[in-house]
Amino acid sequence: MKYPKNYLDEIKTRLKVSTVVSRTVNLKKRGKEFVGLSPFKNEKTPSFTVNDDKEFYHCFATSEHGNIFDFVMKTQNLKFGEAVKFLANLAGMQPYTFSKQDEEREKEWKEYSSIYNQYVEFYHEEILRNEEAVIAREYLKKRNLSKKEVKKFKIGYVEKNPKFYEKLINQFSKKILTDCGLFYFDEKKKIFVERFRNRIIFPINNISGTPIGIGGRIFQDNNYLAKYINSPETRFFKKGSNLYNLDLARKLSNKIDHVYLVEGYMDVIGLAKNGIENVVANLGTSLTEKQILVLNQFFDDIIICFDGDESGYKAALRAAESSIKELKPEKKISFLFLPEKEDPDSFINKNGMEAFTKFTKETKVPIHIFIFNHYMKQTINDPSSMAIFEKTLRSIANTIKDNFIKKYILEYFLEQISLLTPHSNYRRKKFYNKKEKSLKTTQKYFNETQSLSPIELKEFSLLYIVLNNINIFQENRYLIENIKFFTKENKIVLEKVLNELKTKNNLKLDDLLLDSQLVDKIFKFASIKHILNNNKNDQQKVLELLEEIKRDLKNYELEYRIEELESKFSKDLSESTFNEIRELKKLQNIN
Ligand code: UTP
Ligand code: MN
Repeated sequence: MKYPKNYLDEIKTRLKVSTVVSRTVNLKKRGKEFVGLSPFKNEKTPSFTVNDDKEFYHCFATSEHGNIFDFVMKTQNLKFGEAVKFLANLAGMQPYTFSKQDEEREKEWKEYSSIYNQYVEFYHEEILRNEEAVIAREYLKKRNLSKKEVKKFKIGYVEKNPKFYEKLINQFSKKILTDCGLFYFDEKKKIFVERFRNRIIFPINNISGTPIGIGGRIFQDNNYLAKYINSPETRFFKKGSNLYNLDLARKLSNKIDHVYLVEGYMDVIGLAKNGIENVVANLGTSLTEKQILVLNQFFDDIIICFDGDESGYKAALRAAESSIKELKPEKKISFLFLPEKEDPDSFINKNGMEAFTKFTKETKVPIHIFIFNHYMKQTINDPSSMAIFEKTLRSIANTIKDNFIKKYILEYFLEQISLLTPHSNYRRKKFYNKKEKSLKTTQKYFNETQSLSPIELKEFSLLYIVLNNINIFQENRYLIENIKFFTKENKIVLEKVLNELKTKNNLKLDDLLLDSQLVDKIFKFASIKHILNNNKNDQQKVLELLEEIKRDLKNYELEYRIEELESKFSKDLSESTFNEIRELKKLQNIN
């Protein structure tokens, strides 16, 4: 039987991993972690680490890895339920008693998921193999879908007069067959009728990949049936907390920090087919705060991309106003507006993945700017309209739960409003104009540096040193060889310098024929420039600065590699990955 997540979370919040572990292992604090002698192995040097932030322990010697429940199960040889009881007690909580209702729910869930599994599998097989399904297959082909997508999304086809319920009737009660939403009972004819007959069906899975609902689309022109119908809400299928494709998309969250949120099943499938698989859809209803919270568990950056029509825009505005409440400092929500009449599926099929990604980069709008711009468009320059404008924005900002975000968004709104406000007093106006200008340029600089990563900025500094001291490196090329850059453009510059140094004597900056925009950017943003300019003729100092940056870059590289391996490790738990992490951490300490 399953313990409710919030009960287990409560235990975890009350008990740090280090608290539990230190009952049996002597731990010493080292940085963010604790270390000690492994309880899983006889050892003299500690290879056992505990990280309270990440809520896990980790043994480098044996590759044992887990949370407090795993620890207690393994060290005390207990079953999961026993470990929960033990830890709950330690946390000063009442033992969890499963009620009769819990048992009933568990039983019903088993039946429910079994019905859905059988249903999805059966009709998926039908679309793949049944002769009669040829019309459905043709339709999907017309929509650019291949067998690969059909299989990946377990798409199915329910024929006009389906009889699958006859198979289920012997296994399940009439009650659960009606409750599950796939059938309804025709009291007159005394038979079950399939809800999704003559439709292509898209299974909606829960987060672990079990189907719990269905969306069904007609595939022949028809003006009296709804284009899509969906399973009704059931005990196990709540539209406001589920998202289509979350089960597959979430698996990418260790590699990708952003997720697209779209309107339709076909948008998800169309994007995935074109290589963008970090995508989910809300299920034909308005976006809920719960859905944002669920997505934020996996992704830091949510990009909402609805259809490029009026209803898509309205849905986006509604989504913005409800999701801004949940905005957190370390998370981002932004909006992408497609050209008129396009939806993500049509756009990507027409233009391809690269164009879609480029379009995202260039045009996505942060949530607060979208909201501001929307209400600004409705405002005219008169006191009453301005007052309503300010009131609306203030009340939206007030719904934000996080106090820091609330403060900065409100400040942003008010500052933008003040820039719009006309001042009759001439002197004041002049003052405001001036202020506005300087604000805008600093803000621009700030925004630009914000969009550069710390690594990019470091690379700029290194290139700045190189480009300003080419003569030094003519003789000492080795000083700038074997440096790993992460940014493609920067890497090209460094390679070019090295190549030219090899072949030309007395090389000058202008001989390099570098992309002048990039050079401008380097000269503008290299933070080293002030220090360097003060030490222009001191070669020793220049080289010291260079070494320092090289060291920083090396550390970035290590950090990056370690992060990569740690996320690999959390999945494969392999010893070799562990050893590699350990070696890299050693190197990191030396640096
Ligand atoms: P769309 O009409 O934009 O559909 O509705 P779509 O996903 O782009 O599909 P195609 O390309 O026409 O096949 C977006 C979503 O709204 C819900 C569905 O979840 C759909 O995917 N919807 C739409 C319904 O629930 N019922 C409807 O009648 C229409
Ligand atoms: Mn659409």
